[in-house]
Amino acid sequence: MPFEFDTSLHTAQALDAADTLAHFKQQFYFPQHNGKDVIYFCGNSLGLQPKTVEAAVQQELNDWKTLAIAGFSKAKTPWLYYQEYIKPSLAKIVGAKENEVTVMNTLTVNLHLLLLSFYKPTKQRYKIMMEAGAFPSDQYAVETLVKHFGLNPDDCIVEIAPRENEKILREEDIINAIQQNAETLAVVMFGGINYYTGQLFNMQNITAAAHKVGAVAGFDLAHVAGNVPVQLHDWNVDFACWCNYKYLNGGPGCVGGLYVHEKYANDINTPRLAGWWGNEESIRFKMEKGFIPKTNASGWNISTAQVLNTVSLKASLAIFDEADMNELRKKSIQLTAYLEFLLKQLNNLSFEIITPSSADERGAQLCLYFTKHGKAIHDKMIENGIVVDYREPGVIRVAPAPLYCSYENVFQFYEILKNNF
Ligand SMILES: Cc1ncc(COP(=O)(O)O)c(C=O)c1O
Repeated sequence: MPFEFDTSLHTAQALDAADTLAHFKQQFYFPQHNGKDVIYFCGNSLGLQPKTVEAAVQQELNDWKTLAIAGFSKAKTPWLYYQEYIKPSLAKIVGAKENEVTVMNTLTVNLHLLLLSFYKPTKQRYKIMMEAGAFPSDQYAVETLVKHFGLNPDDCIVEIAPRENEKILREEDIINAIQQNAETLAVVMFGGINYYTGQLFNMQNITAAAHKVGAVAGFDLAHVAGNVPVQLHDWNVDFACWCNYKYLNGGPGCVGGLYVHEKYANDINTPRLAGWWGNEESIRFKMEKGFIPKTNASGWNISTAQVLNTVSLKASLAIFDEADMNELRKKSIQLTAYLEFLLKQLNNLSFEIITPSSADERGAQLCLYFTKHGKAIHDKMIENGIVVDYREPGVIRVAPAPLYCSYENVFQFYEILKNNF
């Protein structure tokens, strides 16, 4: 532990005073509670609004008002190329080359599209492996994909569950399961961080194990993007998608992110469902028969750039360019460790931290399973202006996002727990 934590307010304030990223908090709007900013630990669901978003949206509205169709080429940021403006920042955040990322649609839609590109079931290879308890939308996507091919989900979907009396998955069990299904496995598709437990999976090792048996590996990075730095390209990950409204603060329903390794992105023969926006740019407006994909991840773009739900992301990513993911991660590791330290002092409360205790196996989020009073504790937090979420049967998820959460915020959460329960 780089810093000797203790339970005093003074220490929280000293940690804040030493925090070189503390000033970023001022770049966000906070909901108000009794005339004060709330303490916001829900960035794992929906990030806060950067103050720059309003003017950026207004700019696009003005350009639409004054230019109409001409905005595609004459807007301040011409709409024709809108995905392009996002790529440099997003590529850095997910450790990809710029030609490997794009933005389009929303997360579950992109997961469907990517699975249609990468799941090619044969008599021999037809199984998809995922974590048991994956986010429901991912489960539905995989279930309906398999049915779409006329196959039975019970035969094709392999779910890896924690061992009896355990709450998180052991990596060795994932790797063993991949090896045990070596002959029949087509795709391994995991959430990079499980939404419920906060467990961060070793995507590099999972990808290597999948490749070793001849399968491909893809990840839903909803809880990873903007939370934990990853190296998708270097780890040889085949495909990934994520939403941009959690840690990346792009706003509700914001455009989703997509990654395909360049070995597929550059190859016009990689199968995909297409639309005109993914067509080779120089001939798109010839309106001719025959789809010729762009030779980068934009070859997966289907429809016209979604300017109004991309502009907020564009504004938000400028903050990530300034803050740097590695710096954010350093703070995040310490902030979450501080939260964990304080929670461990509360011996009289009956709860368990489900999330792994190693920084290598978690991001910003800790999941607390309360055997008693879970809902009452959640309600007490809300009453006191601390926004956390609650999931039955007794889980409170607390996500101190390093861009706008402080050590004193974490201390206040602890104080309420200590003094009320
Ligand atoms: C892990 C995960 N996957 C998928 C989704 C669904 O995302 P969307 O509604 O943007 O398709 C979510 C939403 O919170 C999620 O957390």
